[in-house]
Amino acid sequence: MSERAACLQNFPMVIVVVLLIVTFATGLKSTTPGIFLHVSYNDEPKMQSGLLVVNCSVDTKLTDIVTVISLTVLGPKPYGNQGEFDELAVIDIWSKTPKLTSDLEDSKVTIHGKASMEKDSHPYLFMSWNTPTPGSRHEYKCVANGLDRQRQPASINKAKKVEFSRAGCCEKIDSIDSQLREMSEKLETFKKNLNFQIKMMAIDKSRFDVSNVSKNRVYLASKVQAAFKIQAANEACKSSGGYLVEFDDDEEYRFVYDFLHRTGGANTFWTGGNDIEKEGQFVYFNSKKLVPSLTGWSHEQPDNANDNEDCMEIRLNYEGFNDWTCDESGKFVCEVELSR
Ligand SMILES: *[C@@H]1O[C@H](CO)[C@@H](O)[C@H](O)[C@H]1NC(C)=O
Ligand SMILES: *[C@@H]1O[C@H](CO)[C@@H](O)[C@H](O)[C@H]1NC(C)=O
Repeated sequence: MSERAACLQNFPMVIVVVLLIVTFATGLKSTTPGIFLHVSYNDEPKMQSGLLVVNCSVDTKLTDIVTVISLTVLGPKPYGNQGEFDELAVIDIWSKTPKLTSDLEDSKVTIHGKASMEKDSHPYLFMSWNTPTPGSRHEYKCVANGLDRQRQPASINKAKKVEFSRAGCCEKIDSIDSQLREMSEKLETFKKNLNFQIKMMAIDKSRFDVSNVSKNRVYLASKVQAAFKIQAANEACKSSGGYLVEFDDDEEYRFVYDFLHRTGGANTFWTGGNDIEKEGQFVYFNSKKLVPSLTGWSHEQPDNANDNEDCMEIRLNYEGFNDWTCDESGKFVCEVELSR
């Protein structure tokens, strides 16, 4: 005869049927002393998850139920949808071993418990599982079914809400967040610096004098004075990572003028400005952008003297820009953007 059958012999079938009905009607009777529900959540430091513990127990000395037949834990499914309130586990005197409801069988829930017919046996049903910090409040319920002193079916229950501290969770997320941000900023700076170094290394210092850095740019003045060929000069600038100088504003022009003045070695310094394509409309050779209006033009320049002056030079003895015959001898100036 099986253990269960043996137990059943001690219980008239009628009572078992009534007990099942009581089980379905759980929660109708108000909370009674003697049933305990312990719910706790210990989140591990620096982890986004913690151990949730639910322990349902009965002290028969303190309750009307003298014989506990089953203990049931209800709550939101540990791995199910939030907000569901369902039977999670049960232990009864027939099987004696606690059981998870079928859809939780494969979950990583630790479960143990004790059920016995004996008096003062302190039955309990314990569950624990690791869970990510939930965002909300969870409610758990413990239900004990059994017989009272008059050997009548009885049910008691206890419910408990657990508040998960979002503060703990989000402080950690925030700190990880800010660490990541800091790291990516450092990486960005590192990449910029690396790019900067690579660009500086790519400059052919045997061919060019190099200015100081201004607004992440350096300017190069060719060392050799020669007949200007705008296309070839732009190519020479390119092979050092730049292009024929293009002034966006007066400030940039002032910086370059100052550099050329110090570097010296020539009177004519060719720029990217020219009106080869359309007389009177100065554009930059590399970008094809219009030359903005600049105060650097020397007195009465550009004048297109002899109808033959299409290239824009910086002429030191004019202290400014001048248009001049494109193939005249001079040095040329490149611009290199360092952080691109
Ligand atoms: C659950 O609670 C009961 C009653 O307090 C206790 O005897 C039992 O040891 C607890 N189980 C665990 C695993 O903490
Ligand atoms: C670069 O800057 C330093 C310090 O401001 C200055 O002494 C030096 O003349 C500058 N060099 C050029 C080429 O402008």
